[in-house]
Amino acid sequence: MIAGGTRLAVQLLRRAGRNRTVHGAFFLIVLGGFLFAFLQQDGIIHYLMSPKSGRVYRQSTEAVWNVMKSLPRPKPVYPLIDLDFYMPSQKMLFNRTRIVTAVSSNHYPEMKKMVATVQMHMPSTKIVVYNLGLTKTELHTISRMCNVEEVRFFNFAQYPRHVRNKLNYAWKPLIIREALYEFGAIFWADSSIRFKKSILPLYRYLKDFHGFVPMVLTYEPNRFSNYNKTHPDMYRYLGVDLDNEYKNLRSTPTVQASRIFFVNSSYITEKLIQPWVACALALDCIAPKGSQNPHRRPVAGFHEHRYDQSALGILIYKNLRGLFKKGNGAQKAYISVSAFRNNNRYFGDVQNVTFCD
Ligand SMILES: *[C@@H]1O[C@H](CO)[C@@H](O)[C@H](O)[C@H]1NC(C)=O
Ligand SMILES: *[C@@H]1O[C@H](CO)[C@@H](O)[C@H](O)[C@H]1NC(C)=O
Ligand SMILES: *[C@@H]1O[C@H](CO)[C@@H](O)[C@H](O)[C@H]1NC(C)=O
Ligand SMILES: *[C@@H]1O[C@H](CO)[C@@H](O)[C@H](O)[C@H]1NC(C)=O
Repeated sequence: MIAGGTRLAVQLLRRAGRNRTVHGAFFLIVLGGFLFAFLQQDGIIHYLMSPKSGRVYRQSTEAVWNVMKSLPRPKPVYPLIDLDFYMPSQKMLFNRTRIVTAVSSNHYPEMKKMVATVQMHMPSTKIVVYNLGLTKTELHTISRMCNVEEVRFFNFAQYPRHVRNKLNYAWKPLIIREALYEFGAIFWADSSIRFKKSILPLYRYLKDFHGFVPMVLTYEPNRFSNYNKTHPDMYRYLGVDLDNEYKNLRSTPTVQASRIFFVNSSYITEKLIQPWVACALALDCIAPKGSQNPHRRPVAGFHEHRYDQSALGILIYKNLRGLFKKGNGAQKAYISVSAFRNNNRYFGDVQNVTFCD
């Protein structure tokens, strides 16, 4: 765009000949053009990988929109929703909320228990399962489980190549974007999540948080906080100064990406979903060279990294600063309605899943 603008300006300048006033005016226009481009840089500049060529390059907000437009757009199943303009009743919102999860064979047993707790505590809530690699038998069994509305294939072919490597979790923001596009209200639950109650207590936070209700793990800088578990290159990529800015902030929410509640709003679409998806589309952002999952045995020279969760934490700091503060979050509500598989013995003997043929 800048190159095109310059070429046009040079042509016009040639045509303008030696007329000094016109010359001056064009000088100002060209200067203005560069200033505009500079200001654009100062705004939200995203780095993206082209789904076609696989090349990573910097792009403007406008270009991000263009790439977003080429992403799959499932048909919305309910009237469109934007909490920044209209807040439906909790009952209506609850009715359209889907529990969304994704599973491959290695997490299948764990996922059955998650489904069982939905059946127990939210008997009328539907579950959408994305298939990240299941056997035919598993697929068939899941499709028979009560509450499971659909098991669907995640179309890796529609995304850049690196998304096929499930270990970089790029699929998660992409699935969340797709499902949110379709249902307008989703509760993302990893296979490891167990429901203790209906998620209804989380709905009262929707309005204040523009439809994005995360589980904040900690506000303190400690070994659980985002910067400890994030490769420094991701901060660089997302334009956040880790050493001079981020680490010095005493109170920054670190959130969990294993359970997140979203209802659509323009604010969250722009400030969170889009840049999160843009990061997932660029391998250098979602999984910088030398990043390693903290659950694996440490390798010398590698830095612990939480991929999708790391990006979410940085974007909350960058674009939603001040929204979540100690005391105003949904932590207590989250803990009352859900838990992780491993930190509660009670979940060892969850009832078995039930089937509705
Ligand atoms: C979500 O909100 C955005 C911004 O208002 C809108 O363009 C989009 O259609 C909404 N999606 C749904 C599913 O309501
Ligand atoms: C929930 O939505 C279904 C359609 O999907 C509708 O039949 C039902 O009446 C709704 N229930 C409430 C409480 O809004
Ligand atoms: C993360 O926390 C651990 C344990 O407290 C500490 O040893 C390590 O140096 C920290 N890493 C970073 C990058 O801060
Ligand atoms: C669940 O199913 C397994 C095998 O299908 C069975 O052995 C077990 O007793 C069941 N548990 C409960 C609580 O029903």
